[in-house]
Amino acid sequence: MNAYCNDLFENVSRGSSLDAGLFHRQGAGGAGHVPEVQVTTRLSEMAMPRRDDVETHADVEVKIRVRDLNFYYGTVKALFGISMDIPARQVTALIGPSGCGKSTFLRTLNRMNDVIEGTRVEGVVEIDGQDIYRKERDVVGLRKRVGMVFQKSNPFPKSIFENVAYGPRIHGNRDRGRLKEIVESSLVRAGLWDEVKDRLGKSALDLSGGQQQRLCIARALAVGPEVLLMDEPASALDPRSTARIEDLIGELRRDYTIVIVTHNMQQAARVSDHTAFFYDGSLVELGPTEKIFTKPDKRQTLDYITGRFG
Ligand SMILES: Nc1ncnc2c1ncn2[C@@H]1O[C@H](COP(=O)(O)OP(=O)(O)OP(=O)(O)O)[C@@H](O)[C@H]1O
Ligand SMILES: [Mg+2]
Repeated sequence: MNAYCNDLFENVSRGSSLDAGLFHRQGAGGAGHVPEVQVTTRLSEMAMPRRDDVETHADVEVKIRVRDLNFYYGTVKALFGISMDIPARQVTALIGPSGCGKSTFLRTLNRMNDVIEGTRVEGVVEIDGQDIYRKERDVVGLRKRVGMVFQKSNPFPKSIFENVAYGPRIHGNRDRGRLKEIVESSLVRAGLWDEVKDRLGKSALDLSGGQQQRLCIARALAVGPEVLLMDEPASALDPRSTARIEDLIGELRRDYTIVIVTHNMQQAARVSDHTAFFYDGSLVELGPTEKIFTKPDKRQTLDYITGRFG
């Protein structure tokens, strides 16, 4: 199993055709390495991570601390007792099959679910040691600190400049000179400046899909966040634009705490330091990315990363 998994991680990290490789192995000789298993176990029947299984980072600063987090859409429970630490200035990837709660969890980190009627949260989410769900907490200020980039780029029907200046303006910055500086530095950080510096007054909607997504990242950066939440930020993009977003994540991780949802195993392996595998609303396993992709502790994680389900 180790040889198989190490090989897999090598493939994943190198960005060779992982999916083809995986399915080929699985169908043709995979059984020689990993015995075929029928995935019939429901998560509720599995050994769930215990509290003392929470991956702690003794040597790194924890930016976000989540404990016993339950989440409900009305009467339907979508997250079950999630506990995890998210380290500062590193990239944490959330993986798992469709509907397992990745986006829901991501949105609990900046209270974006609050805008959905009838939702309810139990448990603790702390950023820098402060509970973000305490009643008096300033939600607008929280969302300034914790920015979000969505799967589908969603620029406003305004100029490129106005898209990036929008957030700082809302937060009270009216000085034109300062706004220009912020717009430029945000576009530089998002790797878009050179492509748009001569057309800042033009509509953002005329940019390509990949450029629009980098514009949305610039827009998120413009308000000076500490944490960036990215929900499948490259899934609608072509390989070249995807590579640019991945490079960008690599650069941003020096200054920002990044949590990224992705269905792309290669991407998770390439961009993240830690990977959390979700299934059925529960956190099955969290660990250093290399470990998750080479020697996961849980059978269910192995089955998922090797394409056996999901
Ligand atoms: N606004 C909503 N109202 C009610 N139920 C919802 C809502 N959004 C999500 N859900 C449910 O919560 C569960 C988790 O959904 P979520 O979108 O978090 O999954 P996901 O892991 O992000 O899936 P995907 O990979 O398809 O994006 C699903 O059962 C989904 O149907
Ligand atoms: Mg989702």
